[in-house]
Amino acid sequence: MFKVPPVAAERLPALLRAMPKAELHIHIEGSLEPELIFALAERNSVRLPYASVQELRSAYAFTDLQSFLDIYYAGASVLLHEQDFYDMARAYLARAVADNVVHAEIFFDPQTHTARGVPIETVIMGLHRACEDARTLLGISASLILCFLRHLSEEEAFATLEQALPLQDKFIGVGLDSSELGHPPEKFARVFARCRELGLRRVAHAGEEGPPAYIWSALDVLQVERIDHGVQAFQDAALLQRLASSRVPLTVCPLSNQKLRVFPDLRDHKLRQLLDAGLCATVNSDDPAYFGGYINDNFTQVFAATGMGARHAYELASNSFEASFASAADKRAWQHKLKESFERFVEYD
Ligand code: ADE
Ligand code: ZN
Repeated sequence: MFKVPPVAAERLPALLRAMPKAELHIHIEGSLEPELIFALAERNSVRLPYASVQELRSAYAFTDLQSFLDIYYAGASVLLHEQDFYDMARAYLARAVADNVVHAEIFFDPQTHTARGVPIETVIMGLHRACEDARTLLGISASLILCFLRHLSEEEAFATLEQALPLQDKFIGVGLDSSELGHPPEKFARVFARCRELGLRRVAHAGEEGPPAYIWSALDVLQVERIDHGVQAFQDAALLQRLASSRVPLTVCPLSNQKLRVFPDLRDHKLRQLLDAGLCATVNSDDPAYFGGYINDNFTQVFAATGMGARHAYELASNSFEASFASAADKRAWQHKLKESFERFVEYD
């Protein structure tokens, strides 16, 4: 086990920014900055119900998950052509590199686009090309996870899977997102079973606004390999024990939880308790263009609010590699890089 050296409190934000990390919970449509929404609206002659970037940004005042999703789906309406999907993903990946993200597993919501008549090939090919180019041009590894919208039916999820299967080599797995309350994981039991047979990796949002019971059923019914958010696990001691002993990771998104009023005050966030209980928790940005910060902002703000230190920082970055779906060789190389970054940081201290 690596012994984490002590780091002066004032140097902690710089360490959080400098350490290599993986991002495992990022909705690519949630990385669309207002400036890019307006540029794409103009390029594609799409009329927006906002007069300016400022007016759109000022609408970003959310009271819960649904109030955010309504604006998020409206923002995605400017995406029509393969190049639009490419440009969106390319912008995110460049921003991630600036935060020392070395690997990203990126969610996309095909049903948001196919419902508007955009072919699924347009979506997947644009995003995939951006991931490939980022590997060679930006030095970041990136892969895609197709998410089913849980407010729609399982039948519609099956239809989406069918449409996507000819491009199965372009995405590594499936997820479940959108409005959580009233749409428990078991609604998607059959489609997740099929994805498992197909060899796809499986994740699901559970326990963001929903109860611990949704986390149990994501694990037991959907047999997911990671839980997205999962912060409501703090209410259930038996669930905490299960997550700690199985090391099924949680992809936690502190600024999202604050902005959607899951934990309106970041000082009340449970990340530190989850880590200290032995869970494989990670830090991620969810929808950075909407929640006021990318991954490093999530790290620095939740650390400042909860008083975590260098040991937690190391654990979170190490967990992000452990929790990823990357190869064992890549994981080993990133873990090594992480240790080096901590050692270098202390030498310069
Ligand atoms: N889609 C985009 N962001 C989401 C979130 N935080 N929860 C559920 N669905 C989402
Ligand atoms: Zn999410």
